[in-house]
Amino acid sequence: MAKVLMINASDRFEQGVSVKMHKQFLTTYQSAHPEDTIEEVHLFAENLPYYGDQAITGQYKKAQGMALTNEEEALVAKIESYQDQFMNADKVVFSFPLWNYTVPAPMITYLSYLAQAGKTFRYTATGPIGLVGDKEVALLSARGGLYSEGTPMENAEMAMKLVRQTISLWGIISPIELFIEGHNAAPDQKDQIIGAGLEQVEQAAQQF
Ligand SMILES: Cc1cc2nc3c(=O)[nH]c(=O)nc-3n(C[C@H](O)[C@H](O)[C@H](O)COP(=O)(O)O)c2cc1C
Repeated sequence: MAKVLMINASDRFEQGVSVKMHKQFLTTYQSAHPEDTIEEVHLFAENLPYYGDQAITGQYKKAQGMALTNEEEALVAKIESYQDQFMNADKVVFSFPLWNYTVPAPMITYLSYLAQAGKTFRYTATGPIGLVGDKEVALLSARGGLYSEGTPMENAEMAMKLVRQTISLWGIISPIELFIEGHNAAPDQKDQIIGAGLEQVEQAAQQF
Protein backbone atom coordinates (compact mmCIF):
# COMPACT_ATOMS: atom_id res chain seq x y z
CA MET A 1 0.00 0.00 0.00
CA ALA A 2 1.66 3.19 -1.18
CA LYS A 3 1.31 6.62 0.39
CA VAL A 4 0.71 9.27 -2.24
CA LEU A 5 1.07 12.98 -1.58
CA MET A 6 -0.64 15.34 -4.02
CA ILE A 7 0.43 18.98 -3.82
CA ASN A 8 -1.76 21.48 -5.66
CA ALA A 9 -0.53 25.06 -6.15
CA SER A 10 -3.62 26.78 -7.57
CA ASP A 11 -6.77 28.05 -5.90
CA ARG A 12 -8.67 28.36 -9.19
CA PHE A 13 -10.66 25.25 -8.32
CA GLU A 14 -13.34 25.75 -10.98
CA GLN A 15 -11.44 27.08 -14.02
CA GLY A 16 -7.78 26.27 -13.44
CA VAL A 17 -6.33 23.92 -16.03
CA SER A 18 -3.63 22.79 -13.61
CA VAL A 19 -6.44 22.03 -11.15
CA LYS A 20 -8.14 19.91 -13.83
CA MET A 21 -4.85 18.02 -14.16
CA HIS A 22 -4.74 17.52 -10.40
CA LYS A 23 -8.35 16.27 -10.30
CA GLN A 24 -7.89 13.99 -13.31
CA PHE A 25 -4.78 12.45 -11.80
CA LEU A 26 -6.49 12.00 -8.43
CA THR A 27 -9.64 10.25 -9.72
CA THR A 28 -7.75 8.04 -12.17
CA TYR A 29 -5.12 7.09 -9.62
CA GLN A 30 -7.77 6.32 -6.99
CA SER A 31 -9.63 3.92 -9.25
CA ALA A 32 -6.44 2.29 -10.57
CA HIS A 33 -4.87 1.92 -7.09
CA PRO A 34 -7.76 1.67 -4.60
CA GLU A 35 -5.50 0.18 -1.92
CA ASP A 36 -3.24 3.24 -1.76
CA THR A 37 -3.75 6.25 0.49
CA ILE A 38 -3.79 9.72 -1.01
CA GLU A 39 -3.19 12.91 0.92
CA GLU A 40 -3.95 16.20 -0.81
CA VAL A 41 -2.34 19.50 0.12
CA HIS A 42 -3.90 22.62 -1.37
CA LEU A 43 -1.17 25.16 -0.81
CA PHE A 44 -3.34 28.28 -0.99
CA ALA A 45 -5.62 26.87 1.72
CA GLU A 46 -2.65 26.16 3.99
CA ASN A 47 -1.86 29.89 4.39
CA LEU A 48 1.84 29.19 4.72
CA PRO A 49 3.87 31.95 6.40
CA TYR A 50 6.61 33.24 4.10
CA TYR A 51 9.97 31.56 4.54
CA GLY A 52 12.11 34.36 6.02
CA ASP A 53 14.11 35.42 9.04
CA GLN A 54 11.83 33.89 11.67
CA ALA A 55 12.05 30.47 10.03
CA ILE A 56 15.76 30.70 9.23
CA THR A 57 16.70 31.96 12.70
CA GLY A 58 14.40 29.46 14.41
CA GLN A 59 15.89 26.55 12.49
CA TYR A 60 19.43 27.80 13.17
CA LYS A 61 18.74 28.15 16.90
CA LYS A 62 17.19 24.68 17.06
CA ALA A 63 20.18 23.13 15.29
CA GLN A 64 22.51 24.88 17.79
CA GLY A 65 20.47 23.81 20.82
CA MET A 66 19.53 27.42 21.59
CA ALA A 67 16.20 28.61 23.04
CA LEU A 68 13.55 29.57 20.47
CA THR A 69 10.82 32.19 20.89
CA ASN A 70 7.26 30.82 20.94
CA GLU A 71 6.72 32.15 17.40
CA GLU A 72 9.92 30.53 16.11
CA GLU A 73 9.02 27.27 17.84
CA ALA A 74 5.58 27.21 16.20
CA LEU A 75 6.92 28.03 12.74
CA VAL A 76 9.75 25.48 12.91
CA ALA A 77 7.24 22.82 14.00
CA LYS A 78 5.01 23.70 11.05
CA ILE A 79 7.93 23.50 8.59
CA GLU A 80 9.03 20.17 10.02
CA SER A 81 5.52 18.75 9.72
CA TYR A 82 5.56 19.48 5.95
CA GLN A 83 9.05 17.99 5.68
CA ASP A 84 7.95 14.82 7.48
CA GLN A 85 4.81 14.51 5.37
CA PHE A 86 6.89 14.80 2.21
CA MET A 87 9.60 12.41 3.37
CA ASN A 88 7.00 9.81 4.43
CA ALA A 89 5.30 9.73 1.01
CA ASP A 90 6.21 6.98 -1.45
CA LYS A 91 4.93 8.97 -4.41
CA VAL A 92 4.49 12.69 -4.86
CA VAL A 93 2.49 14.59 -7.48
CA PHE A 94 2.91 18.35 -7.88
CA SER A 95 0.39 20.29 -9.97
CA PHE A 96 1.00 23.97 -10.62
CA PRO A 97 0.12 26.66 -13.13
CA LEU A 98 2.57 28.96 -14.85
CA TRP A 99 1.76 32.45 -13.61
CA ASN A 100 4.00 35.31 -14.68
CA TYR A 101 6.48 32.78 -16.04
CA THR A 102 6.87 30.94 -12.75
CA VAL A 103 4.91 29.13 -10.02
CA PRO A 104 2.40 30.85 -7.66
CA ALA A 105 3.94 32.28 -4.47
CA PRO A 106 2.71 29.56 -2.03
CA MET A 107 4.62 26.99 -4.08
CA ILE A 108 7.86 28.93 -3.58
CA THR A 109 7.15 29.00 0.15
CA TYR A 110 6.42 25.27 0.24
CA LEU A 111 9.58 24.38 -1.69
CA SER A 112 11.56 26.62 0.67
CA TYR A 113 10.18 24.69 3.64
CA LEU A 114 11.38 21.43 2.11
CA ALA A 115 14.75 22.60 0.78
CA GLN A 116 16.66 22.05 4.00
CA ALA A 117 20.19 20.71 4.36
CA GLY A 118 20.09 17.66 6.60
CA LYS A 119 16.54 16.82 5.54
CA THR A 120 16.08 16.68 1.75
CA PHE A 121 19.80 16.99 0.89
CA ARG A 122 23.15 17.24 2.62
CA TYR A 123 26.47 18.83 1.85
CA THR A 124 29.56 16.71 1.29
CA ALA A 125 33.17 17.56 0.41
CA THR A 126 32.37 16.82 -3.23
CA GLY A 127 29.10 18.75 -3.38
CA PRO A 128 25.51 18.33 -2.20
CA ILE A 129 23.75 14.97 -2.39
CA GLY A 130 20.02 14.33 -2.35
CA LEU A 131 18.31 12.38 0.43
CA VAL A 132 14.94 11.59 -1.17
CA GLY A 133 15.92 9.88 -4.40
CA ASP A 134 13.73 6.79 -4.12
CA LYS A 135 10.37 8.54 -4.53
CA GLU A 136 8.28 8.43 -7.66
CA VAL A 137 7.41 11.99 -8.60
CA ALA A 138 5.15 13.53 -11.24
CA LEU A 139 5.07 17.21 -12.21
CA LEU A 140 1.86 18.46 -13.83
CA SER A 141 1.80 22.00 -15.17
CA ALA A 142 -0.48 24.18 -17.29
CA ARG A 143 0.56 27.30 -19.17
CA GLY A 144 -1.54 29.43 -21.46
CA GLY A 145 1.23 30.21 -23.95
CA LEU A 146 3.75 27.99 -25.71
CA TYR A 147 6.99 27.31 -23.87
CA SER A 148 8.04 23.79 -24.83
CA GLU A 149 11.40 22.89 -26.35
CA GLY A 150 12.05 24.64 -29.64
CA THR A 151 9.50 27.43 -29.16
CA PRO A 152 10.65 31.09 -29.02
CA MET A 153 9.56 31.43 -25.36
CA GLU A 154 11.29 28.25 -24.20
CA ASN A 155 13.73 30.11 -21.93
CA ALA A 156 10.96 32.14 -20.28
CA GLU A 157 9.39 29.00 -18.79
CA MET A 158 10.42 29.09 -15.12
CA ALA A 159 7.72 26.99 -13.46
CA MET A 160 8.58 23.45 -14.58
CA LYS A 161 12.27 24.36 -14.67
CA LEU A 162 12.16 25.74 -11.13
CA VAL A 163 10.47 22.67 -9.65
CA ARG A 164 12.62 20.24 -11.66
CA GLN A 165 15.84 21.98 -10.58
CA THR A 166 14.78 22.29 -6.95
CA ILE A 167 13.90 18.64 -6.51
CA SER A 168 17.00 17.49 -8.39
CA LEU A 169 19.04 18.82 -5.44
CA TRP A 170 17.05 16.43 -3.29
CA GLY A 171 17.98 13.49 -5.54
CA ILE A 172 14.81 13.36 -7.66
CA ILE A 173 16.30 13.43 -11.12
CA SER A 174 13.79 11.86 -13.48
CA PRO A 175 10.28 12.94 -12.53
CA ILE A 176 7.43 12.35 -14.93
CA GLU A 177 6.69 15.72 -16.52
CA LEU A 178 3.38 16.51 -18.18
CA PHE A 179 2.21 19.90 -19.37
CA ILE A 180 -0.77 21.39 -21.10
CA GLU A 181 0.15 24.51 -23.01
CA GLY A 182 -1.01 26.97 -25.64
CA HIS A 183 -4.75 26.90 -24.86
CA ASN A 184 -4.82 30.67 -24.29
CA ALA A 185 -2.67 31.34 -27.36
CA ALA A 186 -5.08 29.32 -29.55
CA PRO A 187 -8.56 29.75 -28.01
CA ASP A 188 -10.26 28.03 -30.95
CA GLN A 189 -8.34 24.85 -30.07
CA LYS A 190 -8.66 25.24 -26.31
CA ASP A 191 -10.96 22.27 -25.63
CA GLN A 192 -8.97 19.98 -27.88
CA ILE A 193 -5.61 20.97 -26.30
CA ILE A 194 -6.91 20.55 -22.76
CA GLY A 195 -8.72 17.30 -23.59
CA ALA A 196 -5.59 15.76 -25.15
CA GLY A 197 -3.49 16.87 -22.18
CA LEU A 198 -5.92 15.38 -19.67
CA GLU A 199 -5.82 12.07 -21.54
CA GLN A 200 -2.06 12.02 -21.05
CA VAL A 201 -2.57 12.73 -17.37
CA GLU A 202 -5.06 9.85 -17.18
CA GLN A 203 -2.59 7.42 -18.76
CA ALA A 204 0.23 8.57 -16.48
CA ALA A 205 -1.95 8.19 -13.37
CA GLN A 206 -2.88 4.63 -14.31
CA GLN A 207 0.79 3.65 -14.60
CA PHE A 208 2.17 5.76 -11.74
C1 LIG B 1 -1.99 35.45 -12.54
C2 LIG B 1 -1.77 34.76 -13.86
C3 LIG B 1 -0.58 34.92 -14.53
C4 LIG B 1 -0.37 34.29 -15.75
N1 LIG B 1 0.84 34.42 -16.39
C5 LIG B 1 1.03 33.80 -17.56
C6 LIG B 1 2.29 33.90 -18.25
O1 LIG B 1 3.22 34.52 -17.79
N2 LIG B 1 2.41 33.25 -19.43
C7 LIG B 1 1.41 32.51 -19.97
O2 LIG B 1 1.59 31.94 -21.03
N3 LIG B 1 0.23 32.37 -19.33
C8 LIG B 1 0.03 32.99 -18.16
N4 LIG B 1 -1.17 32.83 -17.51
C9 LIG B 1 -2.14 31.88 -18.03
C10 LIG B 1 -1.96 30.53 -17.36
O3 LIG B 1 -0.67 30.01 -17.64
C11 LIG B 1 -3.04 29.57 -17.81
O4 LIG B 1 -4.28 30.03 -17.30
C12 LIG B 1 -2.79 28.14 -17.45
O5 LIG B 1 -3.96 27.40 -17.72
C13 LIG B 1 -2.35 27.88 -16.02
O6 LIG B 1 -3.14 28.44 -15.05
P1 LIG B 1 -4.48 27.77 -14.44
O7 LIG B 1 -4.11 26.46 -13.83
O8 LIG B 1 -4.93 28.82 -13.47
O9 LIG B 1 -5.43 27.60 -15.60
C14 LIG B 1 -1.39 33.47 -16.30
C15 LIG B 1 -2.61 33.32 -15.62
C16 LIG B 1 -2.81 33.95 -14.41
C17 LIG B 1 -4.10 33.74 -13.68
